[in-house]
Amino acid sequence: MRVEGWEKVVNFVKTGTSGLDDMLRGGFLRESAVLVQGAPGTGKTTLGLQFICSGAIQFGEPGLFITFEEFPQQLYRDAGSFGWDLRSLEQAGKLRVMFTSPETLLAELESPDSQLSDDIKRLRTKRVVVDSASHFKELTSDPIALRHIFRSIIGAFKREGMTALYTAEDYHLLGLRQEEAHGLAFLVDTIVLLRYVEIEGGMRRAILTLKVRGSDHDKDIRQLEIGPRGMHIQSRFKGHAGLLSGSPYRSISQRALEAFG
Ligand SMILES: Nc1ncnc2c1ncn2[C@@H]1O[C@H](COP(=O)(O)OP(=O)(O)OP(=O)(O)O)[C@@H](O)[C@H]1O
Ligand SMILES: [Mg+2]
Repeated sequence: MRVEGWEKVVNFVKTGTSGLDDMLRGGFLRESAVLVQGAPGTGKTTLGLQFICSGAIQFGEPGLFITFEEFPQQLYRDAGSFGWDLRSLEQAGKLRVMFTSPETLLAELESPDSQLSDDIKRLRTKRVVVDSASHFKELTSDPIALRHIFRSIIGAFKREGMTALYTAEDYHLLGLRQEEAHGLAFLVDTIVLLRYVEIEGGMRRAILTLKVRGSDHDKDIRQLEIGPRGMHIQSRFKGHAGLLSGSPYRSISQRALEAFG
């Protein structure tokens, strides 16, 4: 049974992508851990940037963007292409971009008086993105040790009262095979899947909310567009089945579709 007024009682964090808030029935749960998983180029970093920049610009929630990528300039440039000026946001104390390694981040999170912990408190940081959590696989080949690392990171950000978005890579461009994010999928509260779908000779992006603890979330697979102002979500794919296989087939004729909307 659905509790009346649920959306008013639960403390949601707006994702910065209104269509995704609708899919999640309000947004991410405050102080929860979210996994965004997808193949290269599906939009994981864009979704993370949009979450952090909208928090800093629209919702008065300072953010921390942690990246393990080697070329810092690229992140500033990519964000700039959507109109988000990360340097100005940093200067205004609304954002901190952290270029680091998995080892350093882990050590800082495990130390209560680290520079990171100071910065989080000083900036009153409410949102964090870790791009990408797949890099923690470099620290150990033992799946139990890796799960322990993820548990420790998720716990550290929750204790700081932050809503955390972790990206993870799938190496298969199309198809049902999904990388096991080494236990991360079991530890997070929400999973958002980004996929490529081949339809009539073209590649489209798709988004699906796979797991949302405590919510009657959207089960539809929707089209995802990335444009000059960021990411936005469109209608569900109509008239196709087998979308998650990457090569869907028509489940209903075009004429029937037009007749029944
Ligand atoms: N300014 C822009 N306007 C339109 N589309 C853009 C723009 N910037 C990026 N894109 C699209 O977004 C895609 C990259 O998205 P993004 O970097 O978020 O993916 P990703 O999942 O993080 O990839 P990776 O796994 O390589 O890190 C590009 O391939 C491009 O198609
Ligand atoms: Mg990326």
